[in-house]
Amino acid sequence: MKPIQSIGYSIFFENSLDELRSFLSAKKYSKIFILVDTNTEQHCLPLLQQALNNSLSYDIIEIDPGEENKNIDFCIGIWKMLLDFEADRNSVLINLGGGVVTDMGSFAASTFKRGIDFIQVPTTLLSQVDASVGGKTGIDMDHIKNIIGSFTQPKAVFIEPGFLKTLDKRQMLSGFAEIIKHGLIYDKDLFSELKNLQPQQVSKEIIYRSIEIKNKVVKEDPYEKGFRKILNFGHTIGHAIESYSLKNDKKPLLHGEAIVIGFICEAYLSTKQNGLSEAEFTEIVHMLKNIYPAYPLNKSSYPALLEIMKSDKKNNAGMVNCSLLPKIGHCSIDNYCSEDDLCESLDYYTKNYKK
Ligand SMILES: NC(=O)c1ccc[n+]([C@@H]2O[C@H](COP(=O)([O-])OP(=O)(O)OC[C@H]3O[C@@H](n4cnc5c(N)ncnc54)[C@H](O)[C@@H]3O)[C@@H](O)[C@H]2O)c1
Ligand SMILES: [Zn+2]
Repeated sequence: MKPIQSIGYSIFFENSLDELRSFLSAKKYSKIFILVDTNTEQHCLPLLQQALNNSLSYDIIEIDPGEENKNIDFCIGIWKMLLDFEADRNSVLINLGGGVVTDMGSFAASTFKRGIDFIQVPTTLLSQVDASVGGKTGIDMDHIKNIIGSFTQPKAVFIEPGFLKTLDKRQMLSGFAEIIKHGLIYDKDLFSELKNLQPQQVSKEIIYRSIEIKNKVVKEDPYEKGFRKILNFGHTIGHAIESYSLKNDKKPLLHGEAIVIGFICEAYLSTKQNGLSEAEFTEIVHMLKNIYPAYPLNKSSYPALLEIMKSDKKNNAGMVNCSLLPKIGHCSIDNYCSEDDLCESLDYYTKNYKK
């Protein structure tokens, strides 16, 4: 598998941790830092250390795991550690973890001393197929996801599917949702293949194809001026549900679990206003029902959900901007949905998405 070329950097797949060692040796960084959370420190760091093979010295920065820690306080913690370890402009930060580590680490690196290099070594399925590619860095604030951030590209991304062995089933399903999205918006064949696949056994080839799709889209529109918005399919409603769940549920939904609800609702809206056929709509719902459990969405949550959706700057005159599917494998951007239609789609989910 050839490395995929992205915006000024490569995404490596073959012997990727050896490639990382060669990359670091060639770059001659003054200092190397590895950002981990407590889980990736336990499960992933040993493999990385083995690959670095005592040939390079580095310092470890550790944070607590979880979306609730993707915030400015932990970011300050990372900046303080970089200062304590005397990081300079020629230092590099390696983000070894899931989307929380890759998003927050890249935000911290892109702002420290006006920006130091960073490298993504994603360790969850979701961060491999999605979060580590495309240059979106960020943290959450006041339960609003990714509200603070920048577009800054990494210097390289290294994909090692071996890391996924220690990931639990729920996390695998969460990442699988983004692969499904890539099929739904861009590649009908990929979507069809996923129907016959166990999410826990995603192959390196599927990861590669999924990243290829994301990469093609972000290369065409790095700053999300237009076309890149196709990646938002399922995310207008999905993000609102994720933020709501983060604030209200004892055991909040994972990102992928929330966007699956977004897929159902936005596919429903696609049949209503974008010409998605009933047959394809049923195909999508059927596939998702086979894999993802139902979430108890309550009508009492609708006002809060609408509030979150309406706060998005992409909206127009009270209408909410959604990316919708005219058919599987294609996505159209800038469709405006009314509150009534959004509520109708949520109703569809609550009434029909039962096992
Ligand atoms: N920047 C982007 O373009 C983009 C795209 C999609 C999602 N995201 C962001 O990604 C985040 C979600 O990422 P995520 O799902 O990877 O969550 P995560 O980073 O919270 O990781 C999930 C859990 O798995 C643990 N973990 C990580 N790797 C492991 C491994 N190999 N073995 C065992 N445990 C492991 C983590 O410690 C954590 O507890 C969200 O904050 C979302 O906003 C960003
Ligand atoms: Zn997503």
